[in-house]
Amino acid sequence: MGSKPQTDVLRPSGQKALLIDGKKVAEGVLAEVAEGAATLTAKGVKPGLAVVLVGENPASQVYVRSKGKAAQSCGFHSVQHDLPATTSEADLIALVDRLNADPAVHGILVQLPLPPAIQATRVLERVSPRKDVDGFHPFNAGLLSVGDLDRALVPCTPAGSMLLLEKAAAALGVEISGADAVVVGRSNIVGKPMAQLLLSRNATVTVAHSRSRDLKGIVRRADIVVAAVGRPEMVRGDWIKEGAIVIDVGINRVPGDGFDAQGKPKTRLVGDVEFAAASAHAGAITPVPGGVGPMTIAMLMANTLRAAQLSLR
Ligand code: GUN
Repeated sequence: MGSKPQTDVLRPSGQKALLIDGKKVAEGVLAEVAEGAATLTAKGVKPGLAVVLVGENPASQVYVRSKGKAAQSCGFHSVQHDLPATTSEADLIALVDRLNADPAVHGILVQLPLPPAIQATRVLERVSPRKDVDGFHPFNAGLLSVGDLDRALVPCTPAGSMLLLEKAAAALGVEISGADAVVVGRSNIVGKPMAQLLLSRNATVTVAHSRSRDLKGIVRRADIVVAAVGRPEMVRGDWIKEGAIVIDVGINRVPGDGFDAQGKPKTRLVGDVEFAAASAHAGAITPVPGGVGPMTIAMLMANTLRAAQLSLR
């Protein structure tokens, strides 16, 4: 063990589980990306990220603004295209084609959800796989599935979850290889790629979902639990095996206590895991907010840097 204190992994007093600080880990990733970007820029290639937003979904506007800010803080060339909600699929695809051909752009992100008149798969499949920093193109999903992690651009949320899992395993002195891992949720964006990443690290992987019989029994056996179902506190604390690592991908807004200054009912964010009760059993756990959430944008920046580096090959 090194003598450097691990400030991104804490054990709050009176709590059994180590708390994995996603904000700190994300800051570390962003600092490394900024360094890598500076090196590449000195060689004449400034990493470039283009973010495309269609319509005026307020949550998407917030995400897109954060992505642009992070890109700038990493020293990237950063462009944002805001298109009206009435944009046709053909016009959006024409923009993607222009960005595919633009040598200053190494990463293209089309923010989801898209307006209902546009078929998202058609647009996402048009993004050049080499610029697909979301990792949503079937070509990148295929590379991940065959275990070609050298070439694959991996979706940001599972990639960030994996990094937090590695931190937790290192802090606890346990191996991911050979461990029983359960991913709760089978989405193309999180559940499936997460299962592939765990498999590539030699975990024994179960993917559980809404039709799984005996979810409780499946989670109870797991050394690693990744919860990505989007249902508040669905994974109960007493399902968690003693010492297990719990990575909570969920971000759910639920009613809070009382009212704010404007008289509106307060809300709070909770994960897919019943955090306090799970902390009494887990060896390590990610909080919500401040766990996986900050990792997504950091990994998007890491993917953009990688896409820029891969463009030189
Ligand atoms: N909308 C919510 N999360 C994401 C994401 O990770 N990528 C894209 N493109 N859209 C999103």
